[in-house]
Amino acid sequence: MTVSTPRRAVLIAAVAALAASLAVGVTTAAQAATTLGASAAEKGRYFGTAVAANRLGDSAYTTILNREFNQITPENEMKTDATEPNQNQFSYGNADRIVAHARANGMQVRGHTLAWHAQQPRWMESLSGTALRNAMLNHVTQVATHFRGQIAWWDVVNEAFADGSSGARRDSNLQRTGNDWIEAAFRAARAADPNAQLCYNDYNTDNWTDAKTQGVYRMVQDFKQRGVPIDCVGFQSHFTGGSNYPSNYRTTLSSFAALGVDVHITELDIRNAPADAYRNVTNDCLAVPRCKGITVWGIRDSDSWRSGESPLLFNGSGQKKAAYDAVLAALNSGTTPPTSPPPGTTPPPAGNCTASATPGQVWGDRYNTSVTVSGGSNWSVVVTLTSPQRVSTTWNGTPSWDSSGTVMTMRANGSGNTFGFTTMTNGNSSARPQITSCTAS
Ligand code: XIL
Repeated sequence: MTVSTPRRAVLIAAVAALAASLAVGVTTAAQAATTLGASAAEKGRYFGTAVAANRLGDSAYTTILNREFNQITPENEMKTDATEPNQNQFSYGNADRIVAHARANGMQVRGHTLAWHAQQPRWMESLSGTALRNAMLNHVTQVATHFRGQIAWWDVVNEAFADGSSGARRDSNLQRTGNDWIEAAFRAARAADPNAQLCYNDYNTDNWTDAKTQGVYRMVQDFKQRGVPIDCVGFQSHFTGGSNYPSNYRTTLSSFAALGVDVHITELDIRNAPADAYRNVTNDCLAVPRCKGITVWGIRDSDSWRSGESPLLFNGSGQKKAAYDAVLAALNSGTTPPTSPPPGTTPPPAGNCTASATPGQVWGDRYNTSVTVSGGSNWSVVVTLTSPQRVSTTWNGTPSWDSSGTVMTMRANGSGNTFGFTTMTNGNSSARPQITSCTAS
C-alpha cells in the first residue's frame, strides 16, 4: 500500500510523538533507581546487609540479596569462634563462601570482626595476660592476612566500651591485658592488610550526649592525634532491644567525621521497622559526606537475630515493607555528590606521598584520568571507584584489584611518577575516582 503525502506526514508525526513520549518515559525511569544498592551507588555510597552462609542456598534469599545490595557483612562467619576454633587452627570455609558470593556479584565486604569479647572460642576465653594478648594479635594477623585484598573495611575491634554513665572501657579478658590492646590490634591489622580501611565498631553510641558515645569519641580523637591507624567508626545502630533512634544521630555522625574518620552505619535494625525512623537514618547518612553507607542486619524479618521485633526491610515472605519504600525514596531524593574529585589532590590521602589526579579525555561511555605522584619513589597509590564504574585500561603502573573490582592499587613499574587509566562509566557518568592513599618507600 502506498501512503499519500499528507497522510504520511501525519503518520510520521504520530510515530515521532510516540517515540518522544517513550523516550521521556524511559528517561524518567532511568533517573529513579529501583534498588537500594543502585540508588546508594549513585550517591557515592553502598547499601549492604548482614549475610549468613547457611542461607546462601535459599534462592528467595539470594534473589533479594543480589538484586538489592552491593555490600555484605558476614553475620557470624568471621568471628573469632568461627575462624580459629582451636588455637592456631584456622577455619575459613563459611567466610570464604560469603566472600566468593560477594566477589561474584560485585559487592564490597566488611570484615566482622577481628577482636571482640564475645563469640570467642573456648581456648581464648580461658587465656589471660601476655598469652591472651599474643593470641589476639596472632589472630588479627592471620585472619587479616588470609583475606588480604578482599576486605574493604575491617571491624578491627568490636564493642570495647561499657554501657551506662562511665564512658569507660568495658571489662573483658582483652581489656585486662592492658589498655593499649585496641591500638595494638589496629597496628597488627594495618600491617597485615594495608589496603583495608580499619574501623572501630560499637552499639549504643548513636546518641551524641551518651557517656559511651563520648568515651568512644575521645578514644578516636586520641588515636588520630597519636597516629594510631584508624580510618573509620561503625555505628551498629541496633534500634531494637529497647534502644531508640535519637534525634541527634546526625550530630553524632558528623562529629565523628570531623575527627577525620569515615563513618558507617553497620548493623541497622529498628523495632517494628517504622518508616519514619528508617527514613531519618538514611537522610542522616546522606547529609554527612563521610558517611559511606548503610548495612542492615539481615534481609527478611525471618532472618533477623531479633525476628520477634520484625525490624527489617522485607517481611518473612520477601516482600518489601513500608520502611523499604521510605529508604529507597530517601536515597533517590538525596543529592548526588559533586563531580569529584577533583582535579587536584584528594582530601588528605593517607600515606607518606602525594598523588594528584588530572581529568583526561571524556567519551560517551568512559573517561581518562592521569595521576602524578610526588614525594617518593617505589610508590603505591590506592584509587577507589564508585560502582558500577570500572577501570578498563591502565598505563605506566602495575595494578591490582580488590574483590569488588572498585579498589585499584597501582604500583610503580619503573622510575616514572605518572600513571593513567580509563574508567567505564557503566551508567554512572557523574562519579570520579578518589585517591585514598599514597605510600612510598
Ligand atoms: C549477632 C548475630 O546476628 C547472631 O546471629 C549471633 O547469635 C550473635 O551475634 N553486635 C554485633 C553483631 O557486632 O556481631 C551481633 O550479631 C549483634 C550485635
